[in-house]
Amino acid sequence: MEYLAPRPGGIYVDATLGGGGHSRAILSSISPGGTLIGIDRDPDAIANASRRLVSCEARVHLVRANYSELPEVLDALGIQKADGILCDLGLSSFQLEHSKRGFSFLRDEPLLMSMDGDSSGMTAEELVNAAPEEDLAFIFRELGEEPHARAVARAIVREREKGRISSSLALAGLIHRVKKPFSRGRERIHLATQCFQAIRMSVNDELGHLARLLSVFPGVLAPGGRMCVISFHSLEARMVKSRFRELAGECICPPDLPCSCGRVARGRIVTKKAVKPGAAEVSENPRSRSARLRVFESF
Ligand SMILES: C[S@@+](CC[C@H](N)C(=O)[O-])C[C@H]1O[C@@H](n2cnc3c(N)ncnc32)[C@H](O)[C@@H]1O
Repeated sequence: MEYLAPRPGGIYVDATLGGGGHSRAILSSISPGGTLIGIDRDPDAIANASRRLVSCEARVHLVRANYSELPEVLDALGIQKADGILCDLGLSSFQLEHSKRGFSFLRDEPLLMSMDGDSSGMTAEELVNAAPEEDLAFIFRELGEEPHARAVARAIVREREKGRISSSLALAGLIHRVKKPFSRGRERIHLATQCFQAIRMSVNDELGHLARLLSVFPGVLAPGGRMCVISFHSLEARMVKSRFRELAGECICPPDLPCSCGRVARGRIVTKKAVKPGAAEVSENPRSRSARLRVFESF
């Protein structure tokens, strides 16, 4: 909230509504007279938040949409610019623990992993049972930074020849068996963590949607407004950092040559370095350990 700096009467977007924690904090700062637009691609998040986020002193619009469609969402509400946008990437605790969509490797659930909560897109089960070994290895290596990507992909292909892999626990068990001999009991996190993250990111095209959001947000951010992004993955963090640098007009030409990149500053980077959680926050909320906050302010 300190970085978003919401003020009474302003228009703010919580692009990742989730459990509504951030939205509640924004609402308490923008009342009276402000407007909150809460977006989530998950219909359960919208339904849960509708029950919790009632305000008599501010306008609240909760919209089921992808944040990559932010300009279209605002347009449909008759809003041209927002005074601030907050984006807290990834999965919510609710989705992990209660959605029954196979996000958790600790529960036996159908392998869906769709954040959209419907069957319109590809499911994790389809991906795991149909993708070529090469593609699975690429997904595990690139999105999961999984050191044993090839071995896990090969084991999945062998296993599915015997029968379909259709539950989260079956997949987690298989990954665990493949990785166990390499770990020698030194694992700090569950051995399936990185592969599950990679599958989820692929099924939901998370990097693709983030890329579009980063491309379109300057068009709907009012002068002086801030874009705050909390990322949990190194590829996401890199995308946010490099887009903010581009928007801040940072030249990318070699220092010994005249500038030819033609970048023009459209704002400034507020956080010279990513803001990280302190030790106390991590011990209270271990899931915050990899969170990185970056903030851009529009001219
Ligand atoms: C980390 S949670 C947000 C938690 C929230 N800040 C809170 O205070 O409870 C991320 C949420 O963003 C949603 N989400 C992820 N990618 C999205 C996208 N491309 N468009 C819209 N919502 C998205 C997820 O469905 C999830 O509910």
